[in-house]
Amino acid sequence: MFAVPDAIDRVIERYGAETVCAALLPMLTSERVARIDTVLANRLTSVVTMVEDTYDPRNAAATIRTTEAIGLHQLHVIEPGERFSATGGVTRGAHKWIDLVRWKDPVAAVKTLQGRGFKVYATLPGAPFSIEDVDVSAPLAVAFGNEHDGLRDATVAACDGALGVPMFGFTESFNLSVTVALAMSRLATRRRALLGASGDLPPQLKALLRARWFALKIRGAVGILERTLA
Ligand SMILES: C[S@@+](CC[C@H](N)C(=O)[O-])C[C@H]1O[C@@H](n2cnc3c(N)ncnc32)[C@H](O)[C@@H]1O
Repeated sequence: MFAVPDAIDRVIERYGAETVCAALLPMLTSERVARIDTVLANRLTSVVTMVEDTYDPRNAAATIRTTEAIGLHQLHVIEPGERFSATGGVTRGAHKWIDLVRWKDPVAAVKTLQGRGFKVYATLPGAPFSIEDVDVSAPLAVAFGNEHDGLRDATVAACDGALGVPMFGFTESFNLSVTVALAMSRLATRRRALLGASGDLPPQLKALLRARWFALKIRGAVGILERTLA
């Protein structure tokens, strides 16, 4: 698993999330702070998108943008073959707001999420068990495959089951990024209804993200923090 801490993460770790927020608060409008707090309140950690071997950078970018727009916290990217690279313009900056976790080994990715209490589902065109049937009472991650070859057999075998997105036409599969949008939007809606809440960020993670997002909204925030807090 690759998670590279950046300068913002390091400054938050050094001074603490509360201190960073307090230092940056006077530099943000109240509207901006309210918007950040609304998005934080709606963030879901218990529904996770996972994509394997995405070939087309436009699909990669659309996957990032959709995952963020639905309000999901994490996107897991498995790169045993194709490098996951996204077309910048299409993400509209969405990559800054999500936690993108990169993996080389699909089975390790699936097993790690299972070890954290997630049920992990493969998506397969034509699978009879659908996004409407799956139990959303436990945290769930959903894996999407390559545009040409779908998911690897080993990935499907490691998962807890397979899900289909219902289709009624002659076409045999959806486009990858369209499937991510259809499936994750529906599953997030079902999970939110079950939780009776639109978000589920634990307080410590919420505080960290708040500090990070404050810093992302202010040009040169790291330098400002180093000068004022050192
Ligand atoms: C274009 S499809 C790949 C088609 C590939 N020939 C196959 O059979 O898997 C790319 C990915 O979109 C997802 N997908 C597309 N349509 C789907 C559907 N109706 N149900 C579930 N997943 C679907 C799957 O994750 C699939 O791996």
